Amino acid sequence: MTQPPRIELARLPTPLQPLDRFSAALGGPRIWIKRDDMTDTPASGNKLRKLEFSVGQALREGADVLVTCGGVQSNHCRATAIVASRLGLASHLILRGKPVSPPDGNVLLDELVGARLEYVTQTQYEELDALYARVADEYRAQGMTPFIIPVGASDEIGLWGYITACEELKADFERLNLRPGYLFSAAGSGGTLGGLIIGRQLHGLETQMVAFNVCDDEAWFNTKIANDIATWQARYGIDLDMTNLAINIVDGYVGPGYGRADPHVFDTIRTLAKTEGLILDPVYTGKAFDAMVTEIRSGRFTDAGDVVFLHTGGIYGLFPQRDKFWEKL
Ligand SMILES: Cc1ncc(COP(=O)(O)O)c(C=O)c1O
Repeated sequence: MTQPPRIELARLPTPLQPLDRFSAALGGPRIWIKRDDMTDTPASGNKLRKLEFSVGQALREGADVLVTCGGVQSNHCRATAIVASRLGLASHLILRGKPVSPPDGNVLLDELVGARLEYVTQTQYEELDALYARVADEYRAQGMTPFIIPVGASDEIGLWGYITACEELKADFERLNLRPGYLFSAAGSGGTLGGLIIGRQLHGLETQMVAFNVCDDEAWFNTKIANDIATWQARYGIDLDMTNLAINIVDGYVGPGYGRADPHVFDTIRTLAKTEGLILDPVYTGKAFDAMVTEIRSGRFTDAGDVVFLHTGGIYGLFPQRDKFWEKL
């Protein structure tokens, strides 16, 4: 198998821990949490697994500036900017939205590590390829070598992050003698679920990979993930039976929109913090965890004795939404 180059960024393996108090109160399957929020402190989260491969490729191509994009509070942009300065590279972040003053959450960290921030409107963001091309040309004109990482590092390179995570999960399950029926995660740009789907097949895991989308809809994710997997297969020449690759997106939990959550999501974040000392965020993990709980309460996924929730990080996204908790105090 021709894996792309990989550099070590994440602290692996991450722990897999049972949520006994929360599971008992819910009365459903035993919920385990895979702590990918612990891949690092400042650069924590799922993106770090993907960046081991994306940045590995960038270094192989001689890059000295990493260019990527996302929403203003993008965890992926923050992780990329931190990794860049850790490696002595420059970073340029194309952020959808307006600057906030003073900077908060992820953007504060982007600023601290010296990323160059470029704010664009939603309309400009829709022409992302043109934006990337312009930024890359600007760096080339200065004699630099840019490397473009797509949104969420969700492409055939970034997929390797969660393909290889499946090997780790397999070892976790064997060590703990577990056969979880489902592994749940949030889907934002699809690369985590895409990697899990391939990794499950390659490493012979029985666990079904299920994701709750926090933006867009099921059809968008089905197309995106199927395309990424096909590109991955073509680039790395790996023989994989594409007919059995179920893309299990559970739609219906986007709520008021990307980055905005209903009050019950904030309640769930508070409950989990109180009962288990575990911190989720309102954009990704809180929304997905709340969705999982809602589904279990309605009787779905209760055929499993054990299930896993993949904690993909995102803690810094909590702070800019502090008012949502404050309102209720
Ligand atoms: C904290 C967090 N969880 C989950 C996701 C979703 O992962 P993916 O973009 O691979 O679908 C993201 C990014 O989009 C994220 O920042």
